[in-house]
Amino acid sequence: MTIGGFLFAESLIGPERLTARRVVDRLQNIHGTHSGFRRNHAKGVAVEGYFESNGSGAQLCAASIFRTGRYSVRGRFSLSGGNPHIAEDPGIVRGLGLQVGLPAGEQWRMAMINLPVFLDPTPQDFHDRGLAFANDPATGKPNPRLVSDYLATHPRTAAAMKIAKSVAPAPTFATTTFHGLNAFEFTDPDGTTIPVRWKLVPETESIPGDDPRPASLFTQLTNDIRQSPCRWTMMVTQGVRGQDRTDDASVPWPSTRPTVNVGTLVLTGIATETSDNVRTVNFDPLVLPNGIAPSDDPLLSARSAVYAESFRRRAGEPDNRGSVETEGRA
Ligand code: HEM
Repeated sequence: MTIGGFLFAESLIGPERLTARRVVDRLQNIHGTHSGFRRNHAKGVAVEGYFESNGSGAQLCAASIFRTGRYSVRGRFSLSGGNPHIAEDPGIVRGLGLQVGLPAGEQWRMAMINLPVFLDPTPQDFHDRGLAFANDPATGKPNPRLVSDYLATHPRTAAAMKIAKSVAPAPTFATTTFHGLNAFEFTDPDGTTIPVRWKLVPETESIPGDDPRPASLFTQLTNDIRQSPCRWTMMVTQGVRGQDRTDDASVPWPSTRPTVNVGTLVLTGIATETSDNVRTVNFDPLVLPNGIAPSDDPLLSARSAVYAESFRRRAGEPDNRGSVETEGRA
């Protein structure tokens, strides 16, 4: 462990002495400690492909990814929670992590989910909601009184949950929209800065021959990508400074904000996660190319510190082949 990593793990990321170490301890207490696995989004699979930039993003942002061209991508689809063997219930939050390779050794890493808003305005809320919604060992379900008390005292989470529940989960990973949620700052070639959010919208809402309710999301994804590349359009929404919240990912921006199609994510390959693909990648949302900077959202620095702590723990444990097997499938 580096000295920097140690200080990061011990830095305060919320009131009540919240540190990255405490957040990860809490994830382990709730989901169990699964040696070698991510402490959240533990169940996942590796993918690869490219991002085809159409050049339209260059007017908004000077980052090299927006110059017309093709940039290599490594990624990981996942289900939230620290249990690598979790049953693939359609309601579980789905994740997509991407690492885009850019000229001059730059990278853009991002981790998105399928909810249209995040449920927690602050890192402290993420931590506290996890405790309030944890399964009661006596019943195997969340304690309804703790849940209702939490929602009564956290109106922003209650409002975000209502929005999240209004969107039914897509039947498959390949037809899921993934949202970046946290705001970032784009700087254009003239030095003007605007707040943005982005999402990846699937090019198709249904894939011919797909089961409308597949027994396994990961098996379906393996079949879909092996049959034909899966594609998503990257849409960047421009916020209005002073009007749209950049420090709270639980609040949506007005749907009337201008949105630009900046290019297409094309995923061409899928594999069980190993140390040769994504096991050793930390999809830290603060690994950004020049031209993109974090907003004032407190979630961003907290995520960076917590992902580093989760990475530090699993990197010190024996390697494994992940829990989703893709070999021998279509
Ligand atoms: C304070 C809030 C959050 C905390 C504490 C948190 C915590 C974590 C942790 C511990 C991991 C495992 C990291 C690793 O070992 O590599 C993780 C992964 C992930 N998180 Fe978060 N998270 C937060 C917010 C978010 C938000 C807002 C999003 C989406 C916009 C998100 C999307 C993801 C995804 C997609 C992964 C899986 C990445 C992969 O495949 O490795 N998280 N999160």
